[in-house]
Amino acid sequence: MEKTESKIFLTGIKPTGSPHIGNWLGAIRPALEAAASFEARYFIADYHALNSVKDPAALRRNTYEVAAAWMACGLDPQKTLFYRQSDIPQVFELATLLSAFTPKGLMNRAHAYKAAVAVNLGKGEDPDSGVNMGLYTYPVLMAADILLFDADFVPVGKDQVQHIEIAVDIAEAVNRNYGKEIFRLPQPFVGETTQTVTGLDGRKMSKSYNNTIPLFVGEAQLKKTVMRIVTNSQSVDEPKDPDSCSVFALYKLFASPEEQDDLAQRYRAGGMGWGDAKKTLFEKMNEALTPIRNRYEELMKNPSVIDRALNEGAQRARKIASEKMEKVRRVVGL
Ligand code: ADP
Ligand code: TRP
Repeated sequence: MEKTESKIFLTGIKPTGSPHIGNWLGAIRPALEAAASFEARYFIADYHALNSVKDPAALRRNTYEVAAAWMACGLDPQKTLFYRQSDIPQVFELATLLSAFTPKGLMNRAHAYKAAVAVNLGKGEDPDSGVNMGLYTYPVLMAADILLFDADFVPVGKDQVQHIEIAVDIAEAVNRNYGKEIFRLPQPFVGETTQTVTGLDGRKMSKSYNNTIPLFVGEAQLKKTVMRIVTNSQSVDEPKDPDSCSVFALYKLFASPEEQDDLAQRYRAGGMGWGDAKKTLFEKMNEALTPIRNRYEELMKNPSVIDRALNEGAQRARKIASEKMEKVRRVVGL
């Protein structure tokens, strides 16, 4: 993609749990790389999290954790607009307005809702059992997040692409009705070079699979977690295949090409046990994670630094949002 400084990148981060290495390499790092070259608006999607997190202490803690994580990984709130969704009332006003342009059938086809219905039907339950309106209308709120801030590109994982397509559909319905380009049409930005990070059991690392390596655990815990990576039962002497091994897959994400070659040779030569391979991985990973872990711990000890950053971000974001919302109201006749 061409480097056009005027393009706006926007993404929402759902505060539903502590970030893991997959989140870092698959979402945080690519988004921060984009923020170095483009105008970026990144926010904590706390109202989205409310659909599933009903414990106030947990929601608050998750929000701090996510904010501290992004700041520790390099987000500079002076350069990147960084705010909490719940601090921007215009998001919710726009969501109500967009609802009037959103066909119900479009929500019936949204993945998250369809998946919930499929699970219910599989269990012989009512299709809508346990589905709240927040889940059902999730794509409308997400469209409001995106359209209010004139996003051109929305960095997301593949699972979110449909939501962006829905945002485009809704934006087009509004633009068509008023014969004006009120809303900019966003595009998903799915990093092609971003790999899927493997979890402890060889599947995709995900909180839902309980196979994650958390980003910010202490050194001892990190080592313990790395030692739990599932390997086959080959003995120390046997030559091993690096390409089918989760330990090696993770090592590749942290090591230089020379270091990767070196470890691959040790695999193929035999005489190296899984314990040694894991220790090599732990040391490399720990080296990369130590500086960000230190910054994270510092921020979590000083939540007022996080509050200040998010409050300043909210002020700037509300200014952008209220100007946009005023224009929208005028066009629709409110
Ligand atoms: P989880 O699957 O652990 O619940 P989320 O769905 O909250 O993670 O993902 C947040 C972001 O992190 C998304 O952009 C997603 O694409 C990215 N991400 C999550 N897991 C991985 C992974 N294993 N490899 C690469 N990116 C990932
Ligand atoms: N739905 C996204 C997720 O589950 C989070 C999100 C909310 C978002 N609003 C957004 C992402 C707007 C991009 C743009 O990860």
